[in-house]
Amino acid sequence: MENYRRLVIAGNIGWTVLLVFLAVVSAHTRHGDGVVSQRAPLGCTYLKNVLQCYNRSADLFIPLGVTRIDLENVLGGSLDVKNIHHLRWVHSKIYDLNKAIVNPQSLRTLDLSFNDITRLQDSQFQNYTNLNHLNLSNNVINDLPRDVFINNQNIRQLCLAHNSLKAIPFQVFAPMEHLYELNLSHNFLVTFLDHFFKFNKYIEVLLLNNNNITKITSNALADLTELKRLDLSFNSLNIVSKGLFDSPYEPPVLKPSQ
Ligand SMILES: *[C@@H]1O[C@H](CO)[C@@H](O)[C@H](O)[C@H]1NC(C)=O
Ligand SMILES: *[C@@H]1O[C@H](CO)[C@@H](O)[C@H](O)[C@H]1NC(C)=O
Ligand SMILES: *[C@@H]1O[C@H](CO)[C@@H](O)[C@H](O)[C@H]1NC(C)=O
Ligand SMILES: *[C@@H]1O[C@H](CO)[C@@H](O)[C@H](O)[C@H]1NC(C)=O
Ligand SMILES: *[C@@H]1O[C@H](CO)[C@@H](O)[C@H](O)[C@H]1NC(C)=O
Repeated sequence: MENYRRLVIAGNIGWTVLLVFLAVVSAHTRHGDGVVSQRAPLGCTYLKNVLQCYNRSADLFIPLGVTRIDLENVLGGSLDVKNIHHLRWVHSKIYDLNKAIVNPQSLRTLDLSFNDITRLQDSQFQNYTNLNHLNLSNNVINDLPRDVFINNQNIRQLCLAHNSLKAIPFQVFAPMEHLYELNLSHNFLVTFLDHFFKFNKYIEVLLLNNNNITKITSNALADLTELKRLDLSFNSLNIVSKGLFDSPYEPPVLKPSQ
């Protein structure tokens, strides 16, 4: 009987300790603004609305309130980015975009540099309706399908530098009517047909350096009335058509071709 009473008392003390512990824990997880903070997943740091992770798997729990994710060497699996505005996911051997990123509707900036993407498909970014900054540099993309950028009229900066592009479909960037910076440097591009940029007349920065461009005809760049910086250095240009720069704009500085 005495033992039983001691047990009950011990039990009550146990419960009291547990309840006090829980109260302390819940008090600690509340900030002044009422946001409940959560522990960062392994290999990650989590500060305010930014989650950063290195050297781990992609199957991670995203704490509530995170809007920016920065991942380096985060391999495999897929990431549900519902409510994420900025995603940088680099050096992570991504090759299948459809598998890697789920629910991209909120993304405004996306940097997928230094991955293994070789192929994109028609309407690849159709659910990325709010994207305005896309960086696909340093992948191994060797083809752009004709309708790859359908639905991407908000993209203003596009970087495809350091890929393996040889030929790109006529006016493939047409859906991006607000595009102002296009970086196609370090590919194997050979030429651009007349009026290639007809629907991208707001481009201000066009980087075509380090390609294999042999010929640019007089109307290839004619529609780019806002052009402020054009880089054609390190190509195989031997003919620059008379009239290439006869557009209404001031002739841009043309670096000597190699
Ligand atoms: C991630 O791994 C690389 C290579 O092993 C290492 O150099 C780097 O310091 C690691 N980064 C972090 C933040 O642990
Ligand atoms: C885009 O979203 C729709 C509706 O949620 C879905 O059916 C479709 O598979 C998505 N497309 C891609 C390429 O993920
Ligand atoms: C894209 O990423 C590359 C490599 O990190 C960087 O050099 C480049 O400035 C980026 N471009 C844009 C437009 O973000
Ligand atoms: C174009 O891409 C190259 C390679 O990623 C990068 O070094 C350069 O800074 C980019 N230029 C701009 C203006 O983004
Ligand atoms: C560059 O173009 C020339 C002429 O069309 C071709 O002979 C050469 O193989 C090309 N080089 C590369 C690296 O694609």
